[in-house]
Amino acid sequence: MTHMTKGTLSRRKLIKGAAALTAATAVPTGWAIAQAKPLKVGLMLPYSGTFAQLGENITHAIEMVIAERNGKFGGREIQIIKLDDESKPELGPQNADRMVKRDNVDVLIGTVHSGVQLGIHKVVKESGTLCIVPNAGAVGVTRELCAKNVFRMSFSNWQPAYGMGLALGKRGVKKAAWITWDYAAGAESGAGFKEGLEKAGGQVVATLTLKFPETNFQPLLAQIPGLGVEAVGAFFAGGGAVQFVKEYAAAGIKVPLCGSGFLTEGVLGPQGAAAEGVETALHYGDGIDNLKNTAFRAAFKAKAGREADVYAVQGYDSAQLLVIGLEAVKGNMEDEAGLYKAMRAAKIDSPRGPVSLSPSQDVVHNIYLRKATGGLNKVTGIAAEALADPGTGCKV
Ligand code: BEZ
Repeated sequence: MTHMTKGTLSRRKLIKGAAALTAATAVPTGWAIAQAKPLKVGLMLPYSGTFAQLGENITHAIEMVIAERNGKFGGREIQIIKLDDESKPELGPQNADRMVKRDNVDVLIGTVHSGVQLGIHKVVKESGTLCIVPNAGAVGVTRELCAKNVFRMSFSNWQPAYGMGLALGKRGVKKAAWITWDYAAGAESGAGFKEGLEKAGGQVVATLTLKFPETNFQPLLAQIPGLGVEAVGAFFAGGGAVQFVKEYAAAGIKVPLCGSGFLTEGVLGPQGAAAEGVETALHYGDGIDNLKNTAFRAAFKAKAGREADVYAVQGYDSAQLLVIGLEAVKGNMEDEAGLYKAMRAAKIDSPRGPVSLSPSQDVVHNIYLRKATGGLNKVTGIAAEALADPGTGCKV
């Protein structure tokens, strides 16, 4: 397949043109042939490294939706193609390119790491390939870099941390510190935390960072007691979050730890007693009482052999969004306008509660406050209801 740049014909449009040419003949049209073919869904996710379990849970949940629908979305058989992106931003563009050009995927679902997402984004924006983001919160994807073929079913990095900062400020915290990996997700979560805290009268007086995915936390932890802060907010996830929370507790630091919910999400088991009492904000948690969540959790446990978490929910909802789009166009991906219109208007019955899409094609959802208690991230309230990222809408 030739390389496609902006302004050249997309693969989908070429197929459409061929369909028009053959429409008057008795032989099957290009469109009919395309419909009979399986729909190739590329999963570009981390299956190794610190975010491996996140990628696996997203995959399990997508496979659940495929099984629930007997292998078909909008009448099209679904064929999954997987690629381990290793959470390596430097490999992002070439891996995405491989999925789009060599594997010829019709839809790319990916990924987890914000830096890798920016590489995927460049490729899918050029090729016009439909992309659904099942985790990475890089804000640019639905703000200044937005594209009509890119939808996010997870969160923006800003959202959960904003909720946490707001909740802290509302209870009177005046000074807090932020600690994180030095990459897009850490910095953008920090910006949300700061904005939420400032809105409620507090301020972030120190930011401590280390490179992704390093875990040499000790030099940073040693600085915390001298900062004079009432709370420490953090963004870490996966294996790094396990180690950070354990080392924070072991250091005997008296300042309460809180953060974006990824800090304790899906990792409370290995964190053990170290996580007890850690407060976080996220669009999911334990104790969300709705029928969808109950059924989803039971089915996920049966499939994956472990409890569901936010990553599983995001994978499930990414596939649910694709179903809504494909059903609206009866599996005809050439009907881009119909496909995107239906996806933009989707109202998703999610295990996390009601989900809709903003004009930026980003999720609007509740941000819950949670407290790690006895191995659960127990929901204690709502930090921000139906929260949308501040992105002002995609004009493309
Ligand atoms: C991110 O890089 O956007 C990210 C990774 C793991 C959890 C949450 C966000």
